[in-house]
Amino acid sequence: MLSKLFISAVVLAVCVAERKFPPGFKFGAATASYQVEGAWNVSDKSPSIWDTFAHENPEKIIDGSSGDVACDSYHLWETDVALAKDLGLHFYRFSISWSRLLPNGLANVVSEDGSRYYNNLIDGLLENGIEPVITLFHWDLPQKLQDLGGWTNPEIAIWFEDYARTAFELYGDRVKTWLTFNEPIIICDAAYEKGTIAPGIASPGIGNFICVKNLMLAHARAYRIYDKEFRPKYNGKVGLTNNHVWYEPNTPDDEENTELARDLAAIYAHPIYSKSGGWPPSVEEFIAKKSKEEGYPRSRLPSFTQEEIEFIRGTYDYYGLNYYTSRKVSSGVPTGSSISWPSSGSPEIGIVFSSDPSWTAGYAWLVSYPPGLRKQMNWLVKQYGDIEIQILENGYSTPEPIMYDTSRVKYYEDHLEQVLLAIQEDGINITAYTAWSLLDNYEWTSGYTSRFGIVSVDFTDPMRKRTPRASAYYYATVIKNHSLDFPKH
Ligand SMILES: *[C@@H]1O[C@H](CO)[C@@H](O)[C@H](O)[C@H]1NC(C)=O
Ligand SMILES: *[C@@H]1O[C@H](CO)[C@@H](O)[C@H](O)[C@H]1NC(C)=O
Ligand SMILES: *[C@@H]1O[C@H](CO)[C@@H](O)[C@H](O)[C@H]1NC(C)=O
Repeated sequence: MLSKLFISAVVLAVCVAERKFPPGFKFGAATASYQVEGAWNVSDKSPSIWDTFAHENPEKIIDGSSGDVACDSYHLWETDVALAKDLGLHFYRFSISWSRLLPNGLANVVSEDGSRYYNNLIDGLLENGIEPVITLFHWDLPQKLQDLGGWTNPEIAIWFEDYARTAFELYGDRVKTWLTFNEPIIICDAAYEKGTIAPGIASPGIGNFICVKNLMLAHARAYRIYDKEFRPKYNGKVGLTNNHVWYEPNTPDDEENTELARDLAAIYAHPIYSKSGGWPPSVEEFIAKKSKEEGYPRSRLPSFTQEEIEFIRGTYDYYGLNYYTSRKVSSGVPTGSSISWPSSGSPEIGIVFSSDPSWTAGYAWLVSYPPGLRKQMNWLVKQYGDIEIQILENGYSTPEPIMYDTSRVKYYEDHLEQVLLAIQEDGINITAYTAWSLLDNYEWTSGYTSRFGIVSVDFTDPMRKRTPRASAYYYATVIKNHSLDFPKH
């Protein structure tokens, strides 16, 4: 009887504990400078590549819009802090606009207005008990640096180091979590593929690989100066965040190509996180062989020196993961006029992507497959060992600005459930989860037609009125309870 009672108690305790997050697990929400700040030409700020791209190519933006005003967070940041506080967020992830802080792109002039803006935001968050998490680069490169070749000029690693040092000097005393880069796969692969996003240069198979090499070196430089000059005083963490689409084979015959697709997406991770460093061997071999067949005297994927491999390897304090969606992989040649990442396939490998009919769609490319998140994290741990994973973006978009957003609530609940399974059943050390996004914002080439906010923004209102959606109330309850189980009405 006693033992039976005991077993029931244990079973009950397990059931109750089941959907609870570990103590210390942090919840946050994210935005990015160009997508929310507006104020594109105030004070001494110089244009970024996104200012230029949106102004000069309105036909490449679905609604012809720009981020000139966006959510006007440059002026309304106090409202954003108040929203973050109401939601009970533990942290708020935002990015610095490089050309707002350093109008020349280079570090000889620091903008007083720019540095004051981020100081105010950081202090405002801290006063409300919210930890600031800063992304140094969320795609808005100073146009002046693009004019010098941008990510294809090797000097950019040094320009980035100087920019990073400026930010660490200004804010490192109060900011303990830093990301060098948001989604390098977009900065390099998507940007250079068809020229359909800023800086608008099509150089598939060439530009993307030069970009990733320089970006890896830029990341490592920023990490190393933090390690040497700032960690002793501030003891923070530096990493970057990668966007992974989980790939599954369409048939057993597609298994090899699928693993190659996962490896190809990991050219932004392997040099930093793997024990051996450098490019993933399968990718290095594949591109070298293909380049030779295509008549190139050397591989299109530039090599690292041994010294560079050592310099980049191990430059992380956590693994940042952005996850939204999954794809099935089959052989074939991707077609379509828009960027093929992540929708249509990889011309490099010769594969096309599709989605399973059971995966429900929100906005176009964003089909929901929650187990993909857990599978991706297991893949990462298998590759790189028992690393700390911070989920730095996850979220759902709809074309309509609906307030009672049940599909988004379901997306969050289903994905958070997978996070719990990964922690409890797979033993993965996930320490943070981030909703993308706090606000509806300027969704790049989708303009204002793709709504990611748990808080809606009225873009026709000069005051950019913010109104929390059902998903905001849901997320706040999860955070408050630290659990997915709570009384439902
Ligand atoms: C800034 O840009 C806006 C358009 O978004 C324009 O109306 C305004 O005149 C510009 N201000 C300055 C100082 O150039
Ligand atoms: C997870 O990672 C954090 C940060 O590195 C560490 O402090 C913690 O002990 C780890 N937890 C587990 C369960 O390994
Ligand atoms: C969970 O949150 C709801 C809504 O805020 C609240 O009523 C309930 O008491 C919370 N439960 C726990 C266990 O904290």
